[in-house]
Amino acid sequence: MKKITDKLYQFSIYIPPMDFTIHQYLLDTDPAILFATGTAQQAQSTLSDIKKVLGDKLLKYIFISHVESDECGGISVLKKAYPDITVICGELAARELPGYGYTGKIQMKKGGETLTDGYLKLKFVDYPSEVHLQNGILCLEENSGIFYSADIALRFGNGVGKIIKGSWSDEVNAIDAERVPNEKACEKLKEDLEAISPNLIAVGHGFCIDCR
Ligand SMILES: [Fe+2]
Ligand SMILES: [Fe+2]
Repeated sequence: MKKITDKLYQFSIYIPPMDFTIHQYLLDTDPAILFATGTAQQAQSTLSDIKKVLGDKLLKYIFISHVESDECGGISVLKKAYPDITVICGELAARELPGYGYTGKIQMKKGGETLTDGYLKLKFVDYPSEVHLQNGILCLEENSGIFYSADIALRFGNGVGKIIKGSWSDEVNAIDAERVPNEKACEKLKEDLEAISPNLIAVGHGFCIDCR
C-alpha cells in the first residue's frame, strides 16, 4: 500500500514477466470509496490494508469501471467484510456482477450522471472498454480532482507508488484504436473526456499522472 496523495491510497501488484502493474485505490474521505477491487487473490491483502486505513469507519462504495477480473474479481471478498457496501457501476456490470458472486446493493450510473454524498462529488463518463467494447464507465471525483482511468492512460513498467508529470489533453489524444477499436466510440469518449480536467489520473495500470 502506498499513500499517493493526502487521502488517496494505492494497492498494487507488479508482474515482472509482463512488465505490468495493476492498481486499485482507496479514497479515504467521508464516505470512503474504493476504485476497483483487484482480483480475488489481491482483494484479500487489499482488504487488510483498507481496514488499517479506515479503522472503524466503513467502506461505503466500490466503483467498478467494467467487468474484468482486475476491476471486480475481488468483489465477494469485500462484500463479506462490508455487507452494506454499494457498488457503483454501469448497466452491463450490474447485470454481470451476480456471476462474481455479488448480490448486494448497486447504483447504476451512465455517462453525464453524478453522485453526491458527503465529501464525494462523483461524475461519470461512458467508457467503451477495450477487449469486448463493453459499456463501462469512468469516474472523476470533482472535489479532489482525482480521475480513476481504468485502462486509459495505461503504461507498461513498474509504476508502484510512482507519479509522473503529464498533461490531460496529451493522455486523451493518445487514446487510439488499440484501446477503443470502434472509431465513433473512440471519438465520443475523447469528446467526453475533453470536457473534464482532472488534477490526478489514478491509473489502473502503470504510472499515476499529475496533470496540474
Ligand atoms: Fe479492462
Ligand atoms: Fe485493467
